[in-house]
Amino acid sequence: MRYLTVALAKGRLAELAMEIFSSIGMDCAQMKEKTRKLIFTDEEHKMKFILVKASDVPTYVEYGAADIGVVGKDTLLEEGRNLYEMVDLGFGKCRMCVCGPNELRGKLDDMSELKVASKYPAVAKHYFQDIKGHTIDIIKLNGSVELAPLVGLSDVIVDIVETGKTLKENGLDVLEEVCQLSARLVVNKVTMKMERERVMDIVNKFRAMTEDNFANI
Ligand code: PRP
Repeated sequence: MRYLTVALAKGRLAELAMEIFSSIGMDCAQMKEKTRKLIFTDEEHKMKFILVKASDVPTYVEYGAADIGVVGKDTLLEEGRNLYEMVDLGFGKCRMCVCGPNELRGKLDDMSELKVASKYPAVAKHYFQDIKGHTIDIIKLNGSVELAPLVGLSDVIVDIVETGKTLKENGLDVLEEVCQLSARLVVNKVTMKMERERVMDIVNKFRAMTEDNFANI
């Protein structure tokens, strides 16, 4: 039996995903130790777990360096990779939103040169250009996106809103909701063909766990 490799988005998503893998019988003890190791093995079940930067999870899965991945829907939308999205894990829930100063509420469609800053340029472009038919200038940022409208770098931002605290503390509001987000289990397309039974066993266990325990997270 060959190893199946699971790519986990480093951080809170990885921790929650490991809880599910533990509860379906995998040995995740090594991962709970606070080390800087990036690869862990469950010899009994022939599983490897790798810790990857969130935006790289779809890349590892598309190329088959990982067979399975756990990653946010925001990253999947932005990366647009060729893979199967199998389970909505129901945790890591948040929203992708257009945010900005409240004065711009209801005015965005009439602004001819709208400047949009985002860590998610593909998502922002798709929303404004393909869905709303609105040509915009996109400014790609890598973090602290809420700063952009405050210092005149952009009119609005497209970003994740979870509690709304960051927006509130910076005097910004949600102007439009783009979509709802949560963590997803994804699978490499070749793995799905070659290892269908093992993968579907994991997928079905995740589906059952998600319905039973994680529905309200
Ligand atoms: C994310 C996101 C928002 C914030 C939303 O940023 O980009 O800035 O969290 O959370 P809230 O609604 O609960 O305040 P992250 O913490 O990843 O940091 P970053 O700005 O460096 O990207």
